[in-house]
Formats: sequence, C-alpha cells, structure tokens
Amino acid sequence: MPAFDATPPTLDGFDQLVAGRCEYSIEPPAEEQIKRDAFLEHPLIEAEIELLDDCRIGDAAPDEAIDVSTNSRSGEFDIVTSALAVNGWCVVSNFLSQTQTQALATECMAMYAAQLLTPARVGANRAATLLRGDSTRWFQPDALSTRQQAFADRIEALQNALNRELLLGLVDSESHYAVYRPGAGYARHLDCLRNNDSRVISAVFYLNEAWQDAEGGALRLYLADQAYHDVFPRAGTLLLFLSAQFEHEVLPATRDRMSIACWMRQRV
Ligand code: OGA
Ligand code: MN
Repeated sequence: MPAFDATPPTLDGFDQLVAGRCEYSIEPPAEEQIKRDAFLEHPLIEAEIELLDDCRIGDAAPDEAIDVSTNSRSGEFDIVTSALAVNGWCVVSNFLSQTQTQALATECMAMYAAQLLTPARVGANRAATLLRGDSTRWFQPDALSTRQQAFADRIEALQNALNRELLLGLVDSESHYAVYRPGAGYARHLDCLRNNDSRVISAVFYLNEAWQDAEGGALRLYLADQAYHDVFPRAGTLLLFLSAQFEHEVLPATRDRMSIACWMRQRV
C-alpha cells in the first residue's frame, strides 16, 4: 500500500444545495431523432453541434449506457462526446477494466477501514450535516497510487477528447473517493463551488460489484420537466453531466456504496 498523505485538499465541496427545481438551459427533447450510427459515421464538428440544438440521440432519453470497452482507441469517446453535446449528460459502462475497477474498490475499502476517509462537509460553515452522509478522501495529484493513476489517465484521455471535440477548455481535474454507509445519502444539489465556476463536467465512477437495483443507492439526476434518471452505482459505470446544469441527489442504500467523484475544470 502506498503511503497516504493526510494533507487536506485545497478545494472542498461547497456545493450549492437547492430546495426546488431550477430552470435549465437545456431545452426539452424535440421529436426529431438522430441515429447513433450517423454519429459513428460522421463525428460531429462544432458547427453541427449547434445545428443539432434540440435533437436527440436515439428515440428516448439517453438512458442506455455507452459501452466504451469495445471501441478502438481512435475516436473511442466519440459517442460520449456527442451524447454530452446533445443532452448534457450520459452514462458510460466499462470505463475501466474489471481488474482496474476492483483494484480501486479494494483500495477505497482499505482506506476507509484505516479511517483515512473523513465525513464530508457541506457549505461555507463546513458543518457536518444530515444533507450529506458520505465520507471522502481526495486524491493527491502528486502522490497517486498506481490504481488511482490508471483512473486519472483514463479521465485525462476523456478530457482531451472533450476539449478536441467540444472545445471545452478543460485544464485539470480533482477526484475523491466516497463511501456512503447504509442509509447515508446526499440531498439534491448542484456541483458548483460558491464564487467559483471552474467545475465544468461532473464524472462519478462506481466501484460496487454485483449491485442490485433493490439495494437502492441510485444517483438521481434531475432532467427538465420534473423528469429524472436514476443511475445505479454498478462497478465500471461512469456518469457524466454538466456540473452547472444538473441537480442530483444520492438515494440511501442498504449496503456500503463506493464511488469516485471527479470534476473536470476550466481555468477561471
Ligand atoms: C458529489 C456527488 C454522487 C455519487 O459528491 O457531489 O453528487 O454518486 N456524488 O457519489
Ligand atoms: Mn454532486
């Protein structure tokens, strides 16, 4: 096991907790459909993305996970970038190999058992609160374990694809492990730091083998028009969404629930 630095992170989750639903800048879905195959044949360029405006990939909400394990390296994130451009969010499966994901899960649990994760805080007064029940530990960028490095490398590849295809200007990312004990959740919120809009993309990676839907623990992503989409925290699943636009909450589960929360940032 690597030595874990106990230095606290420079940024912490001053997330904006919200009571009601807010107005979204993403338009509700239009009737028009765009076939996934069309995206494969003709990767979107910036001008086309603007034209697409309120079009959809497929004929329903993009609730089918995009499996990136079978894609060739060139353009492996094409569908992901298209889905993000069109809908503002998407679910990816097999973001890392099973071995890599299991290694992260093992490390997360070991660190939790060694009391290296600390109860998360919400808001400027950093009070422990019922609004958020997880314990977290930030990755130390200059002291990543081998398995954390594998995750960071993959995030960087995705970040590069997003910059290339969508010109997002992402410069770095920050990540933390999170453990939610049974019954713990995180109330509906936006991932924006107060007075700081550096967070552009939220990426939540899940580490839980053999998760059953009946065990709860979904991340509920609030869409326009009171609709929502539940993402269960299955090992290998990566949820991506625009940090400033999508409110979300973590529903309590009946078993321990592990994730890596990551934010891709722009320079501000
Ligand atoms: C967060 C968050 C979701 C999850 O840390 O801001 O929303 O599923 N996490 O762990
Ligand atoms: Mn969040």
